[in-house]
Amino acid sequence: QKIIITIDGWSSCGKSTLAKQLARELGYLYIDSGAMYRAITLYFLRNHVDWTHHDAVDQALQNIKLNFHSNHKSGQSEMYLNEENVEYVIRDLVVAEKVSEVAAIREVREFAVKQQQEMGRNKGIVMDGRDIGTVVFPNAELKIFMTADNDIRVKRRFQELYEKNPNVTMEEVRANLEMRDYIDSHREVSPLRKADDALELDNTNITMKEQLEIAKKWVQE
Ligand code: C5P
Repeated sequence: QKIIITIDGWSSCGKSTLAKQLARELGYLYIDSGAMYRAITLYFLRNHVDWTHHDAVDQALQNIKLNFHSNHKSGQSEMYLNEENVEYVIRDLVVAEKVSEVAAIREVREFAVKQQQEMGRNKGIVMDGRDIGTVVFPNAELKIFMTADNDIRVKRRFQELYEKNPNVTMEEVRANLEMRDYIDSHREVSPLRKADDALELDNTNITMKEQLEIAKKWVQE
């Protein structure tokens, strides 16, 4: 019996790491909902879309096609924007600086959520994000809400970004995480919050292997 698993939480809590591993173990589809908001933001930035105007947003969304395709070598799903592989470029801090602002727009969320719900039609899916357990799949069989200590989150994200760009500073990364968490949890449309029936997983002091074991146990329960 295939189920829907949602993983929500603060930025850089290790949601995607757990979601990927869990999906691989269960033979489920993994969907990174944040990648969709990042790809939309990338499109807006590249095309100088004035997202403070509804008409401009509506028009732009009509020209955006989002797809996940799995990488032939790694088998991991990657984000495509109008058939261009943007998996790498959407991780850039330039996108991260604007994504929470774009993700707070009602039309943008409706556009993304509709597609996310479609992907879960046949169950057998692990999706991570901010509103997956509360809005996208309120009836999901297993909802996980992840947290981790602030400093740990900054360090993890810094290491990830530093590998790509050695000019990035720890302070920039900290400021970006704090800003996104603030906007994500205070926006009017689907703010980030723990679903009432979500199980909380704090991974500050546990290994990736341990967190996977905990989640697998929850799947069986
Ligand atoms: O998960 P990730 O950090 O890549 O997400 C980037 C941003 O996309 C988040 O900071 C948030 O603003 C937005 N997001 C969202 N809802 C989701 C997933 C991501 O608003 N379900």
